[in-house]
Amino acid sequence: MSESIPVTEIQTQTPTQTSPKVPALPDAQTVTSVKHWNDRLFSFRVTRPQSLRFRSGEFVMIGLMNDPDPKTGKQKPLLRAYSIASPSWDEELEFYSIKVQDGPLTSRLQHIEVGDEIILRPKPVGTLVLDALLPGKRLWMFATGTGIAPFASLMRDPETYEQYDEVILMHTCREVSELEYGRQLVESLPNDPLIGELVGDKLRYYPTTTQEQSAQMGRITDNLSSGKVFADLDLPPMDPEHDRGMVCGNLAFNKDIMAVLEGFGLEEGANSDPKHYVVEKAFVD
Ligand SMILES: Cc1cc2nc3c(=O)[nH]c(=O)nc-3n(C[C@H](O)[C@H](O)[C@H](O)COP(=O)(O)OP(=O)(O)OC[C@H]3O[C@@H](n4cnc5c(N)ncnc54)[C@H](O)[C@@H]3O)c2cc1C
Ligand SMILES: NC(=O)c1ccc[n+]([C@@H]2O[C@H](COP(=O)([O-])OP(=O)(O)OC[C@H]3O[C@@H](n4cnc5c(N)ncnc54)[C@H](OP(=O)(O)O)[C@@H]3O)[C@@H](O)[C@H]2O)c1
Repeated sequence: MSESIPVTEIQTQTPTQTSPKVPALPDAQTVTSVKHWNDRLFSFRVTRPQSLRFRSGEFVMIGLMNDPDPKTGKQKPLLRAYSIASPSWDEELEFYSIKVQDGPLTSRLQHIEVGDEIILRPKPVGTLVLDALLPGKRLWMFATGTGIAPFASLMRDPETYEQYDEVILMHTCREVSELEYGRQLVESLPNDPLIGELVGDKLRYYPTTTQEQSAQMGRITDNLSSGKVFADLDLPPMDPEHDRGMVCGNLAFNKDIMAVLEGFGLEEGANSDPKHYVVEKAFVD
C-alpha cells in the first residue's frame, strides 16, 4: 500500500503545518474542520478531489507522511482505510475517527487542525453500497463504534430513501458519549434543507449502550434475537422478502450478527452478486 517519495518533494510538509492554498503532497487534501466528540473519537472534513466519484458507503485510504527513514531519509505515506462519512453529493469529504493513543496513524491524526493537509488516495471501494442489495422494503443499518461512518454517508443519500420505505439505524457503543456523532446527525436530517423532505419520518434510530446506563441498552445481536427491537419499533421480525441489512462493526460482532441474519433467512450479497445483506469490518483487530 505504501510508496516511497523522495524527501526533496516534501521538504516543508508536516502534518501540523498551516496549509498552503495549493496542496503540494501527492494526493493531498486540506482539512476544513475538526470536531472532537470525546477523548476517543473525532470527526473532520477535508477538501474533495475534483475527480473523486464514489458511492455512498465506500471507503478510501487516508493518512499522513511517516517520519523520514533514518538510513535513507525517505518518507513514506502512512495510510489506513477510512469510510467516507459524507454522502456522494457533498462537495467536501467527512471522516469519523477513533483515537488510538499508540496507533501509528491516529496518535498523530487526532492532532490535525484546520488548514493542515492529509493524504487521500482517490480510489474508493467497499461492499456497503446500495447496489450490492436486492430491492427491498426496509433497510437495516447495524453499526458498533466507528462502524457508523459508512451509514453517516448512506443516511444522507437521497437514493437510500428513494429505494426503501423505511431505514432503521441500530448503533451500539459502550458509552453514551460515543453515540453523540450519530445522534446529532440523525436528529438534524429531517430539517436538512437538501434531503429533509425525503427523509421525513422514514429514518428510525435505535441507539444502545452496553457499559453505561442509557435509555436503551444491550448488544444489537441480543436485541435482534430477543425480538426487543421489533417490539420497540413496532416492526415485524426480519424476513428475506422485505428486509435488507448492512453491517459494520468489529470482527466478532460481524460474525455474530451474520449468524443472526442468516437465522432470519437472509443471505450475504456482494457488488457482483446482490442479495439480502452486506458486511464490512469497521477495523482490523
Ligand atoms: C474497511 C475499513 C474501514 C475503516 N473505516 C474507519 C473509519 O471510518 N473510522 C475509523 O476510525 N477507523 C476506520 N477503520 C480503521 C482504520 O483503518 C485504522 O485502523 C484506525 O484509523 C487506527 O489506525 P492506527 O494506525 O492509529 O492504529 P492501527 O494499528 O490501525 O490499530 C491499532 C488497534 O486499534 C484498534 N482500532 C483500530 N481502529 C479502530 C476503530 N475504528 N474502532 C475501534 N478500535 C480500533 C484495533 O484494536 C487495532 O488493532 C477502518 C478499517 C477498515 C478495514
Ligand atoms: N470504548 C472504550 O471505552 C474502550 C476503552 C478502552 C479500550 N477499548 C478498546 O478499544 C477497542 C475498540 O473498542 P470500541 O468500544 O470502540 O469497540 P468494540 O469493542 O467493537 O465495542 C463496541 C460495541 O460493540 C459491542 N460488541 C462487541 N462485540 C460484540 C459482539 N460479538 N456482538 C455484539 N456486540 C458486540 C460492544 O458491546 P460489549 O460492551 O457488550 O462488548 C460495544 O457496545 C477494543 O479493543 C477495546 O478493548 C475501548
